Amino acid sequence: MNDEHSIYREFTVTAIIQETDHAKSFEIIPADKKEVVYEAGQFITFVFRKGDREDRRSYSFSSAPVLHEPMRITIKRVANGEYSRQLLNRIKPGDRLISSGISGFFRLPDQYHQIKRFIFLAAGSGITPVFSLLKTALHTTDLPVTLIYSNYSEQDTIFYMELLQLQFQFRQRLKIEFLFSQSENRKRRLGKFLLYSLLEEHAVPLRETLFYICGPANYMLIAGISLITAGVPEEHIKKENFNTRPPSIKPLPPDTAAHRVKLLINNAWHEFTVQYPDTILAAAKKHHIQLPYSCEAGNCGSCTATCTDGATWMAYNEVLTDAEIKRGMVLTCQGYPVGGDVELRF
Ligand SMILES: Cc1cc2nc3c(=O)[nH]c(=O)nc-3n(C[C@H](O)[C@H](O)[C@H](O)COP(=O)(O)OP(=O)(O)OC[C@H]3O[C@@H](n4cnc5c(N)ncnc54)[C@H](O)[C@@H]3O)c2cc1C
Ligand code: FES
Repeated sequence: MNDEHSIYREFTVTAIIQETDHAKSFEIIPADKKEVVYEAGQFITFVFRKGDREDRRSYSFSSAPVLHEPMRITIKRVANGEYSRQLLNRIKPGDRLISSGISGFFRLPDQYHQIKRFIFLAAGSGITPVFSLLKTALHTTDLPVTLIYSNYSEQDTIFYMELLQLQFQFRQRLKIEFLFSQSENRKRRLGKFLLYSLLEEHAVPLRETLFYICGPANYMLIAGISLITAGVPEEHIKKENFNTRPPSIKPLPPDTAAHRVKLLINNAWHEFTVQYPDTILAAAKKHHIQLPYSCEAGNCGSCTATCTDGATWMAYNEVLTDAEIKRGMVLTCQGYPVGGDVELRF
């Protein structure tokens, strides 16, 4: 942990808050007390060691750094999930967790021209990054904000009271639609028609609204496709995908020959060969090079590097925009060097 080139850093749990029967928030501080910089909507990745093996799980911040809130993550139990259960059942104040870094592209934009409104669509633990973004949007802009938030019931709704308080505090600008799937109400499960009717009810200017979606895979698929069908430009829909399942079909790179990769991370250069079917990340792991990554499925963005020489190709990408790819950004968990040797920088 003291190696100056190490990407690992320890965090101490300072407080635990029971949010619902199945979710807790954990306040953390860096064990070395040095400053940690993060943005609303980003996540931290924890490393769990089992002998030679290393498992990683990411958790989004529910705290908003602009409000100087203690650094807080919120975790919901996943049925039969290995680490969410351990974290919820066993972690106590004073315990330490090892992190491989903070990352994420689910952030507020740098500029707001063309944007007249925010709509957040969240389900279950998907509220975690959304809560951080929503508080930041309310405190740092004067734009109207709508949250459409799906849960089984009021008791299962993480941050229910805090959201009601925010709605009261920002009653001119914040509208919240709580959807409870166990209710008898028309506003129950978010499907295409309910989403369209909510957008109409809230008189949403579709082309001037920035949408953020976070929830289970099916929910995100339905919401994303419905928005695009309604005419929302794709670049106005931001998604955070908690899913870590790799895509079922992986296309073949246009070049499967072996190439050398020169890679800069934490001021140290590494050089190694990448040979298909290994991705750049898989080859680096075989050489025991410490890199940031989490899902290994092209969904989270924590493995992003910039290609500064040569060309790369990705089998799958749910994160980077065309403009970012043009600037050389690549998801190393899905990336291969193509057409020759490459140089990458983290
Ligand atoms: C960018 C990002 C941000 C995230 N933010 C949050 C957050 O803020 N809050 C939060 O609660 N979670 C968040 N997650 C999800 C989190 O990282 C974990 O994936 C989650 O806690 C489950 O981990 P686990 O070890 O408990 O479950 P796992 O053991 O990984 O299991 C997950 C599910 O897969 C099933 N499963 C496991 N192995 C198999 C198998 N071999 N075959 C079939 N099914 C299997 C399990 O039954 C379970 O349902 C985030 C994920 C990402 C990628
Ligand atoms: S590790 Fe998640 S996108 Fe590569």
